Amino acid sequence: MDIKKLMAEAIQLSIEHKYKTKPNPVVGALLYASGKIVSSGAHEYFGGPHAEVNCIEKVDPDIKKGELTLFCTLEPCNHTGKTPPCTEKIISSGIKKIVIGVVDPNPLVSGQGIKKLKDAGIDVTVGVLEEEIKSSNEFYFFKHENKRPFVTIKIAQTLDNYAADINGKPIKITSEKSNQDVHNTRALHDVIVTGGNTLRNDDPTMNVRVDFNVNQPKRILLSSEINADFKLNFFKDEHFQIIDDADLKKVIQIIYEQNFNSILVEAGPKLVESFLKDDLCDRFISYQSPNRLGDEGISWSSVLNIIEKNRFNLTSSYTIDRDIKRVFRND
Ligand SMILES: NC(=O)c1ccc[n+]([C@@H]2O[C@H](COP(=O)([O-])OP(=O)(O)OC[C@H]3O[C@@H](n4cnc5c(N)ncnc54)[C@H](OP(=O)(O)O)[C@@H]3O)[C@@H](O)[C@H]2O)c1
Repeated sequence: MDIKKLMAEAIQLSIEHKYKTKPNPVVGALLYASGKIVSSGAHEYFGGPHAEVNCIEKVDPDIKKGELTLFCTLEPCNHTGKTPPCTEKIISSGIKKIVIGVVDPNPLVSGQGIKKLKDAGIDVTVGVLEEEIKSSNEFYFFKHENKRPFVTIKIAQTLDNYAADINGKPIKITSEKSNQDVHNTRALHDVIVTGGNTLRNDDPTMNVRVDFNVNQPKRILLSSEINADFKLNFFKDEHFQIIDDADLKKVIQIIYEQNFNSILVEAGPKLVESFLKDDLCDRFISYQSPNRLGDEGISWSSVLNIIEKNRFNLTSSYTIDRDIKRVFRND
């Protein structure tokens, strides 16, 4: 039995569902007996049955339970959340052997699922392809390890580093292909954050427009104007919240307490600069067009100076259509 190969299969099953399970982790499971995979399952959508349960329920009842080995990318839960504890399902199924990829960092689960299974006499192996599973759940692990969500800031800049024209009027900076890339990036995040001026000047929709199923991120407006114009696109559906607190550490705490793992900041230079000054940026993405705006505009230069001064690491740089996409990490 090649346990790494089998765990890799379980990881593959899990990641197909990454746009629908968030902010839950992606999880895959499979059952192995007599030299072959006899069942498989994944956590397919937020609030839905867990991977182990989907996998166990599909297995042929004629297969002797004592012969089965369950592979699970993440430690099975031992608490009642939106679904009953998976440990109970595993124990009552009669499975005697389980291989777990990685310990769940969620304090409600961490170690307790493993203990419950061992106490029930199940042979438990832990720690197979841990790094791969962590990276497929990067934001989930980050949130539990750092006690705050992962923050990405995304900007679009002209060749001469402008964000908008001098009156704040939005300008079309990036190509359609880059815009689609932004939608794909939004689709990976739990929350989109913007600021009052961007709302008033641009009337942005800030939802995800892609051709696959996705849990729409929550849109959060940071503004002291709680009596905003609710006819604006931002308020078109119920997935929004207004937070009237200029203290970004408190804002992050409020978002963390809602159990979100990741935030994408899409705002103008004022709010972006505040995030950077408070050291609340883990990843910075810029899309730069080859076109200049000209003499005057709202500039990103103070933001870009902070990125340079704080020695963010450039981790990738490539062209999308005519634009350059650069990704920096604040490690
Ligand atoms: N090129 C791009 O990538 C891009 C992206 C987004 C926007 N834009 C452009 O940027 C322009 C607006 O930029 P901007 O810099 O003036 O405004 P902004 O950063 O979008 O918004 C600033 C506003 O955010 C709110 N805010 C809440 N907490 C804050 C904090 N801690 N620090 C700073 N602001 C906080 C305040 O709203 P209240 O005043 O309501 O209290 C503040 O006035 C728009 O014209 C838009 O076209 C460009």
